[in-house]
Amino acid sequence: MNSQNPPKHIAIIMDGNGRWAKKQGLKRTAGHEEGAKVVRNITIHCAKLGVKYLTLYAFSTENWSRPKLEVEYLMRLLEKYLKNELDTFLQNGIRFKAIGDLSKFSKSLQNTIKEIEEKTANNLGLTQVLALNYGSKDEILRAIKKLNEKNLEVTEKNFEACLDTAGFSEVDLLIRTSGEVRLSNYLLWQNAYAEMFFTNTLWPDFTTNELDNIIEDFNKRQRRFGGV
Ligand code: IPE
Ligand code: IPE
Ligand code: MG
Repeated sequence: MNSQNPPKHIAIIMDGNGRWAKKQGLKRTAGHEEGAKVVRNITIHCAKLGVKYLTLYAFSTENWSRPKLEVEYLMRLLEKYLKNELDTFLQNGIRFKAIGDLSKFSKSLQNTIKEIEEKTANNLGLTQVLALNYGSKDEILRAIKKLNEKNLEVTEKNFEACLDTAGFSEVDLLIRTSGEVRLSNYLLWQNAYAEMFFTNTLWPDFTTNELDNIIEDFNKRQRRFGGV
């Protein structure tokens, strides 16, 4: 265990649900259901380790291009997940936040997101951030529009304050499961100096044990930030 020195901000591209299901002879949706259970385990574990931000890629701006039935299933799963998680969040001092353009979601889902954010707003432990209808390019363009609207000078600080992740620290550790080695439009700005880990494990098979090993590895890396 690495409770001594956990990264402050971990971001995860939770990939491989569909392939996991296919391997078991199940429908892709069964992989998403299983993946949601892993979200709970990893979140509780990060809260116990003392991680401050866990930012999870749950639905991208590109994921709307999936078959209609899969998208609908994901929307229902999201709403069910959020409603079920409230107790876990409250019991573990976890604050919940969503990033992304939420305006594309149903009113009901938007209300659920808002309700869970409000009910967990005073929790001081881990912040679980779900990236929902999130795309980094979209976020950056929305931030530029906000900067313009507020007539703010273009500085790093002002720009960051207009991003969805305003107030969060930069990503220290980025993990992607399922063997794909790409960012898929995830946190392009915030990952500027992240340490990256790619594992072949499919998200539904990802364990707290594997996370511990990655954190151990992370702690051995020398982060130079351009220095010597
Ligand atoms: C990640 O798993 C979950 C979402 C993108 C919603 P995938 O559904 O992308 O699973 P694969 O990559 O097809 O196996
Ligand atoms: C990235 O996974 C998005 C999420 C994990 C939510 P994808 O499966 O959508 O990414 P690509 O299509 O393989 O790049
Ligand atoms: Mg995928």
